[in-house]
Amino acid sequence: MSIAFLNGDYIPLEEARISPMDRGFLFGDGIYEVIPSYGGRLVGFDRHYARLSEGLEAISMPLPFAAETLRNTLTQLIHRNPEINSEGNLGLYLQVTRGEQPQRNHRFPDTVRHTSFAFAFSIPAPKTGDPKHSETFRVITGRDLRWSRCHIKSVSLLGNVLHMMEGIAASSEEILLFNNDDELTEASTSNVFIVKDREIYTPPLDHQKLGGITRNMLVDILRDHSTVPCHEMPVSREQVTTADEIWLSSSTKELSPVTEVDGAKVGLGEPGPIWSMAQRLLDKYRFDY
Ligand code: PDD
Repeated sequence: MSIAFLNGDYIPLEEARISPMDRGFLFGDGIYEVIPSYGGRLVGFDRHYARLSEGLEAISMPLPFAAETLRNTLTQLIHRNPEINSEGNLGLYLQVTRGEQPQRNHRFPDTVRHTSFAFAFSIPAPKTGDPKHSETFRVITGRDLRWSRCHIKSVSLLGNVLHMMEGIAASSEEILLFNNDDELTEASTSNVFIVKDREIYTPPLDHQKLGGITRNMLVDILRDHSTVPCHEMPVSREQVTTADEIWLSSSTKELSPVTEVDGAKVGLGEPGPIWSMAQRLLDKYRFDY
């Protein structure tokens, strides 16, 4: 039985109920996080808390709990859910909405009673950088048709969902998105890295992409522990189609190699050596950053 957290209580997930008048339900008015944990240890907690705080501030919502309170809640969820993954590989989903309002009204209510909801789910084992044990992705490319506030980790994910379905309709597992200048933004649920001539590139952060914790952590780890340069700079469609390697990054997939773009192989069509190096570093330092 899965135990969830709802507004201060730990209850069976199937018993969790929120009002249909909740602004998260009516307007997608809320912020979420997905925090990975392995063997009971949270990955990047401080970064996730900072992004949650920034997201709530961006939508003018007060932060409902201190960092230590949230850390305790997530730790409780890990301890209360030993059956979800026998090896302790758990993702923790957290959603904070602007809560229930008696009448549907676009205007924010004067007094906010947040809805805070969290649950644990199984995620793949941490990756070691061994190409034999990594999930790989086939992707297509498409125009980024989402809104201009993609840096906010909003629960309003319909734009992302429709892009994911575009990929699935084309028998792919993800979609690489390009803005009107044909520059890479991100994928529907991931950030993107490319490799050319043993140098790594990832698009710079702005309002067109989410500041992924995995992305940011990897950029810092590479800076501190690798001699392979990692450039945060615009990436053109041409650079993507001629890349030696492409990787997706997110809290649930860590670094995952892309082997095919629009039906054409990336490099040799298998996980590349720079991916292996980067994922090995992430494996070594994921709890230190
Ligand atoms: N998604 N970009 C988008 C649009 C995302 O949805 C995600 C993650 C990322 C990577 O962010 P991070 O490294 O912090 O996980 C980038 C999560 C996992 C999800 O929605 O389930």
